[in-house]
Amino acid sequence: MLSGEVSERGGSQYRERMELLERTTDIPDPLTPYLAVDRSRPRHECWVTGHMVAGLDGTAAINGRVGALSTAPDQVLFRRMRQIADVVLVGAETIRREGYAPIQLPDDVQAHRRAQGRSSNPPVVVVSRSLDLDWSGRVFTEASPDARTHVLTCATADPDRLAEAERAATVIVAGHSSVEPEAAMQALADRGHRVVLCEGGPRWLGELVAADRLDELLLSVSPLMGGDLLPVSVAPPGAGIAQFELKSTLVEDHTLFLRYEAARTVGGAARTEDGTA
Ligand SMILES: NC(=O)c1ccc[n+]([C@@H]2O[C@H](COP(=O)([O-])OP(=O)(O)OC[C@H]3O[C@@H](n4cnc5c(N)ncnc54)[C@H](OP(=O)(O)O)[C@@H]3O)[C@@H](O)[C@H]2O)c1
Repeated sequence: MLSGEVSERGGSQYRERMELLERTTDIPDPLTPYLAVDRSRPRHECWVTGHMVAGLDGTAAINGRVGALSTAPDQVLFRRMRQIADVVLVGAETIRREGYAPIQLPDDVQAHRRAQGRSSNPPVVVVSRSLDLDWSGRVFTEASPDARTHVLTCATADPDRLAEAERAATVIVAGHSSVEPEAAMQALADRGHRVVLCEGGPRWLGELVAADRLDELLLSVSPLMGGDLLPVSVAPPGAGIAQFELKSTLVEDHTLFLRYEAARTVGGAARTEDGTA
């Protein structure tokens, strides 16, 4: 892959100067810039990284699935990024459509994690209000005891489904009538999960963004257009504008890999008349 470091821009002030990100530095391992990020000092309860892929038109799915959007280098990076995670967080609709399995990292990575006192593999954490999930699915039945799949749900969940969920997974209730991102991240942090990798989907990611809980976004831009009318993040009603700063770029096989970190959240009142922050 070819990389470009993005220089600091001195706060949010616009300097009327553009920079050409040239294809200058060939890096042997694309994971290097991602592993170098210090995620030990999160702004809130834990560090939350979103990892998403979009088409050039911003689409997040093709015919309800993400696979056709993802190029070969994106698929490799997507799998490998899981090694940074204490947990892999996913919205229920993504689990239903994509048919998740437990995360299985390569043996050497598992050994390295164990040596650091971490679980061999990060557990999957599913967010669901309805608890309308297939409990016979691999993500529940094939998870190892040290990486048992978790379900994040809310207090008003159906009691029968809740009982079913408790048989198949570790259940965390975080919120009354919906899972509240702040309570959910606190509950994960209380269990020692400090680095949360959110793999979507767009609706759950939008809730994290609206609650100012997204610290980092890894966005792969795939060289195609024409997918579903679904952006990579769906803002819930009333959400403010969240701002991010570009930290690094990589490119391979016509796919652009962007790494952003949260700058600050700008609510509606802070916006100027022309819509800029
Ligand atoms: N481009 C990418 O990188 C990418 C990544 C992931 C997924 N996708 C695509 O995105 C689509 C699915 O995404 P999506 O946005 O429709 O769904 P999603 O975010 O995966 O899941 C939405 C579901 O999560 C649960 N949920 C979300 N917020 C909640 C809250 N505050 N409290 C309780 N439960 C909550 C609800 O589950 P219940 O309905 O069970 O209550 C809700 O229906 C698929 O087409 C998938 O292929 C794309």
